[in-house]
Amino acid sequence: MKKFRQIATLLRNFRKVRNALSTLAGLYSGDSLHNAMGGLTGEETAAAVRWARESGCDIAEIGTLFGMTAREFAAAAGPERKVIAVDNFSWNPFGLPASAHERFTRSILKNEIASGRVSLVKADAADFLKSAPRGLFVFLDGDHRYEAVKNEIATALESGASAIAGHDYGNPLFGVTRAVDETFGKPDETAGMCWIKRL
Ligand SMILES: C[S@@+](CC[C@H](N)C(=O)[O-])C[C@H]1O[C@@H](n2cnc3c(N)ncnc32)[C@H](O)[C@@H]1O
Repeated sequence: MKKFRQIATLLRNFRKVRNALSTLAGLYSGDSLHNAMGGLTGEETAAAVRWARESGCDIAEIGTLFGMTAREFAAAAGPERKVIAVDNFSWNPFGLPASAHERFTRSILKNEIASGRVSLVKADAADFLKSAPRGLFVFLDGDHRYEAVKNEIATALESGASAIAGHDYGNPLFGVTRAVDETFGKPDETAGMCWIKRL
């Protein structure tokens, strides 16, 4: 009986299961963790972390997934600066339900959360940015569609961000490049698919 229930659950979640299988297939066939899971490469992480540290500001990572880059931001930013990791838990490469995704991310970030260096905020990017504190270093890596990114950049600008950066600039699958170029002309700097505009 339990097996039937499990199969019915898998069929009900067909698209998520297919995405999860494609992630696993990528990992088995030798894709990097970055490619398979939608995170940042080593080069991109190093640049994003350097930009965040140089800003001297608290950091908001919009779209934290499992918190891996948030941990890097926290380690680099030092004890006097905070990282706000924001996610609405709408997507993950394993098709986990939102509640399991959130639990998993909280467990990965448990030391940073306990020490007060990271707060994990469950929120939609636009809602968070509307009431974000002034002066944040904002790293955009949530919804990559043109309208969403354009709106997030505009809202981050209104919130008085000190710098806006993000991922997937130059990725032909997404609308990030168009949103960034329309707003800023060009970014100040890029590294891999990461971009930054200092304000
Ligand atoms: C590509 S992953 C982020 C990867 C992460 N920055 C890293 O380096 O490991 C995208 C994440 O953004 C989240 N997301 C998508 N749309 C969002 C939105 N509108 N608001 C908040 N989070 C969002 C998804 O749930 C997912 O966890």
